[in-house]
Amino acid sequence: MRRELGFGLGSLRRRPLVALLAWSVPEALPAALYGVAIARAVDSGFLAGRPVVGLAWLGGLLLAAGVSAIGSRQVYRRLGDLVEPFRDELVRRVVGGALRHAVAGRPDGGAVARLTRQVELVRDTYAGLIVVLRGFVVTVAGVVAGLLSIAPVMAALMLPPFVLGLVAFVLTLGMAAARQRAAVLADERLAGAAGAVLTGTRDVVARGAEEHAAALVAGPVAEQANAERALARVAALRALCFAVGGWLPLVVLLAAGPWLVRHGLTAGALMGGLTYVLFGLQPALRTLISGLGGSGLRFVVTLGRILDASTPPPVPARRATAPTRYELTLRGVTFAYGPHAEPVLHDLYLDVPAGDHLAIVGPSGIGKSTLAGLLCGLLRPDAGSVRLGGVPVADLSPDRLATLRVLIPQEAYVFAGTVWDNLTYLHPTATAAQVDAALTAIGAGPLVTALGGCHADLPPADLSAGERQLIALVRAYLSPAPLVILDEATCHLDPTAERRAEEAFAARPGTVIVIAHRVSSALRARHVLVLDGTHAMAGDHPTLLAASPLYRDLLGHWTVPTHPTAPRTGLVVP
Ligand SMILES: Nc1ncnc2c1ncn2[C@@H]1O[C@H](COP(=O)(O)OP(=O)(O)O)[C@@H](O)[C@H]1O
Ligand SMILES: [Mg+2]
Repeated sequence: MRRELGFGLGSLRRRPLVALLAWSVPEALPAALYGVAIARAVDSGFLAGRPVVGLAWLGGLLLAAGVSAIGSRQVYRRLGDLVEPFRDELVRRVVGGALRHAVAGRPDGGAVARLTRQVELVRDTYAGLIVVLRGFVVTVAGVVAGLLSIAPVMAALMLPPFVLGLVAFVLTLGMAAARQRAAVLADERLAGAAGAVLTGTRDVVARGAEEHAAALVAGPVAEQANAERALARVAALRALCFAVGGWLPLVVLLAAGPWLVRHGLTAGALMGGLTYVLFGLQPALRTLISGLGGSGLRFVVTLGRILDASTPPPVPARRATAPTRYELTLRGVTFAYGPHAEPVLHDLYLDVPAGDHLAIVGPSGIGKSTLAGLLCGLLRPDAGSVRLGGVPVADLSPDRLATLRVLIPQEAYVFAGTVWDNLTYLHPTATAAQVDAALTAIGAGPLVTALGGCHADLPPADLSAGERQLIALVRAYLSPAPLVILDEATCHLDPTAERRAEEAFAARPGTVIVIAHRVSSALRARHVLVLDGTHAMAGDHPTLLAASPLYRDLLGHWTVPTHPTAPRTGLVVP
């Protein structure tokens, strides 16, 4: 705040400012003369039986209005001298800031366009503020001088309530600025949250995460509603300030009227006083309140955001040793969907070495997909930690996470575009040779040929669920991420196609975690994690077969493939 104000005042150049104030004096002539002219017109003119003198005083007002118009014209001419250098300085900062962001490796393509629009807004509000503040000061000075010249006692009666309302209004300004800023931020957060959920609608529906998505937006919605209500309360407070500063002087003057008249105040002087309230103090205060409360706040808030955005970004702290081996470690992980819900996972410990091939098995609804969400950093544990390469996944930025892991859900999705776009979505610089190798490894070559080749358009609605899974599997295979999680991602493939895909991922560098849909997936894996609600057990197939009744049970219920693949462990399925 201090920085913004310092910047604003620092840019007020002295000479144009003096010229502006000098031309404000004739502009304010009518405000100063109104009351005096009315008082004289009444006392020495109409009441004294000399209507010509009365009319002459009113004619004097017309003359003053003419002089005032000349003053106004000059004031607006001088305004540019004050405002344009301010705008130039702001633009210099904005462009400089955008360049520094780019040099720091974080170019922000929209920055210049967005910020120059904000600069125009700030310039206009700045000009408006100068006009309002200057007009207020000059008018009030004129009114005070006029009042003192008619009857100092009226000034003593009217000015205290006026000053009271003014001070009260000034005191609300700090609060209003904070609330305006909160409202702007709440608005931005809501737009961000809603945008993320809307653009991810397919993911949300595919993962059955509607409630989670609603929860993501509900917070920002409530926050914005609160911010707007808080702003409205400040507006109500402002109306109260105007009532005190604008109307109370009038009430005081009317109430004291009989007493003033008894003590020698003339009718003309009293009317002059009323004129000063109605045509001087009230309009001046109203303009000040709406000017400072509206565009003034926008000025402070927008200027603050421009200055924030144009300060150089902090150099990101580089980790001394960027991990090259991405082992997954879970320590005491507990997670529930909501503060009062039973935890889906409770105090889970798990180590998945880099390059491992792990199968997760367990009955439906036990928490396998929830665990996948935690491993991917999509969900945050309520207690404990999930680390990938030693770093808590919940602390990684979305961009970083996207380079580290891929999750393929049961309902894989493809988007309208070419087959190539769909395949290389997670690895846009993939070469044709890499894509061919991935198609061969996953066994999706015939599908792509049937679709008309890599550069054909892909019709999402015409693909079967299994075909969509094949495309998504190739996409995940091509991605440079060292961790791939397949959450029943092969459930629509036949056992042979599933085996080919899983073997491709097992041979791919990096870790693959398969949430198993068929027994064969568990048999192919190097390690198996059995989730059974109250506790989890991990080990290789023979160990679990011996130690876990649930695992034995699950194997018994699973359909054994008609052409069973030779399990790595060499064990025969019971
Ligand atoms: N977004 C959610 N909100 C509330 N409860 C959920 C949500 N997703 C899953 N659950 C509940 O958590 C439990 C585990 O679900 P899930 O991880 O999908 O199981 P699995 O993948 O093993 O079938 C289930 O009881 C399910 O109803
Ligand atoms: Mg699931």
